[in-house]
Amino acid sequence: MTFIAKRLDYFDSSDFQRAVARQAELVNPIDLSIGIPEELTAEHIKAAGIKAIEQDKTIYTPANGIAELRIMLATKLTVENKIPSNGNNVSIVPGLTTGLLLVYLAILDPGDEIIVFDPYYPPYPHLASMIGAHVVYVSTLPTFQPDLPTIEASITNRTKVIVVNSPNNPTGAVYSESTLRKIAEIAEKHNLLVISDEIYEHYTYNVPHFSIGSIYPNTITMNGFSKEFAMTGWRLGYIAGPQEIIDAINQLQQYVVMSSSSIAQHAGLAALQHRPQVAVKYKQKRDYVIERLTQMGYSTYGADGAYYIFIKAPNDLTDVEFADKASEHGLIIVPGRSFSRLNGFVRISYGAAMPDLVRGMDVLEKITTLAKPPVMLD
Ligand SMILES: Cc1ncc(COP(=O)(O)O)c(C=O)c1O
Repeated sequence: MTFIAKRLDYFDSSDFQRAVARQAELVNPIDLSIGIPEELTAEHIKAAGIKAIEQDKTIYTPANGIAELRIMLATKLTVENKIPSNGNNVSIVPGLTTGLLLVYLAILDPGDEIIVFDPYYPPYPHLASMIGAHVVYVSTLPTFQPDLPTIEASITNRTKVIVVNSPNNPTGAVYSESTLRKIAEIAEKHNLLVISDEIYEHYTYNVPHFSIGSIYPNTITMNGFSKEFAMTGWRLGYIAGPQEIIDAINQLQQYVVMSSSSIAQHAGLAALQHRPQVAVKYKQKRDYVIERLTQMGYSTYGADGAYYIFIKAPNDLTDVEFADKASEHGLIIVPGRSFSRLNGFVRISYGAAMPDLVRGMDVLEKITTLAKPPVMLD
């Protein structure tokens, strides 16, 4: 007999927890598992947070966030992403992930269908399932690009939403403008909403980022400060979209979060004054990792953005077996089943610093060579 509600059956974080537990056991591990950038929050952002505390800006803010920040974000969305926005159709949330739950609560009824491309950021399907929606998975194998006929074939009269994440976690795939235009056409034809998670928008190396919200008004664009500004622990994100949906989210915010952290929001104002250029540095790390993996015989589809590479484990090893082998040599990578219903993949994060990437690739080379005979890993 358990007191735990059945809705938690949809969460299986055991593999991730295993990775964390393994990390705790290892001495000086090489951690290529976590999805955080190597940088720390910049000094001027920390100073703004401290100043907010000293000036007693420590009380609730409006549920949708402070107006100054919403207006700055609306300008950013309008100018950079070409998504027409104003201070009213932007809502500040305590991190994109909490924001996603609010979006789902605002738009999904039990039984509604939601299309999620596989591999995926785990909250997309699990939070939707948790609230009774039906997740329709569309595999993006082998290239990790969405196949448009497959998307269209998976639409039914219950379909309400397509979730898009470019640049992608865990594959690093970036969808071109033309692909996103076609997804928008499909969405328009079937009167669907699009949720677009753009948290890695600045981490693109070959294909420029394009915001689907700039061409399709029924898009809920989601973003946050975690990655670009190395502010994962501050919990600050934002949502822009059709006014009706933002109003519903704001109503929910009043009951669910009251307001995002006032301190984080004031730090966010300072963050937006100075935009770090992350792409050059991360491209160097990406190129290094790709070169090493290619030399080892791995196929590296996707890998044009974010800081992830999703590779197939060698020699029919399962994802967990391969991740276990890596951890025997001090390297932590995440079994792909955390991100996918596909078998035998692992996710490598190159958010880590270069010396760790070198050590991590050396371990992979060793265990790949040991797993004889070497094979091409398509
Ligand atoms: C695709 C994607 N969206 C959102 C997040 C988390 O965003 P936040 O920290 O704002 O909740 C992550 C974190 O890894 C992510 O990979």
